[in-house]
Amino acid sequence: MERTFYNEAQLCAFAAEFGRGLKAGDVVGLSGALGSGKTTFVKALVRARLQSDPATSPSFTFWHRYPGAPPIDHLDLYRVEEAAEFAELGLEEAFDGNSIVLVEWCERAADILPPCNYEITIEGKGDEPRRVRVRPQ
Ligand SMILES: Nc1ncnc2c1ncn2[C@@H]1O[C@H](COP(=O)(O)OP(=O)(O)O)[C@@H](O)[C@H]1O
Ligand SMILES: [Mg+2]
Repeated sequence: MERTFYNEAQLCAFAAEFGRGLKAGDVVGLSGALGSGKTTFVKALVRARLQSDPATSPSFTFWHRYPGAPPIDHLDLYRVEEAAEFAELGLEEAFDGNSIVLVEWCERAADILPPCNYEITIEGKGDEPRRVRVRPQ
């Protein structure tokens, strides 16, 4: 599936809709350049599914858990340089199947992470429209 979104509100509405179909144990990888909208997508999804307001969460941590049933784990592996480093992060809890996991820059830890069952790729930056590809459909 591939769609174009001409503004942030459109992309966020899609993220909300996509998020409603997720269940505990789902792992979603997000790829795309810095500024493409991965974090924006995650926060819109969290806002739509849970009570928490992601605007109040820390602006940078590599792992943030939003409480809920199920909780949502948001990982951002941008600063993780090596597989060895990643192995020390202690992410077992995020991948125990009891939460929904959304991973930015998942390709950086492809060797170590359990496989994503959804992959979202975002193209475009700044004020450009965003082309979003979702696999599988
Ligand atoms: N159509 C759009 N979809 C998503 N973000 C957009 C769009 N248009 C502009 N933006 C802006 O692009 C930026 C995306 O940043 P962010 O979500 O942090 O990207 P990433 O996590 O991929 O680095 C935000 O400042 C957002 O307001
Ligand atoms: Mg980001």
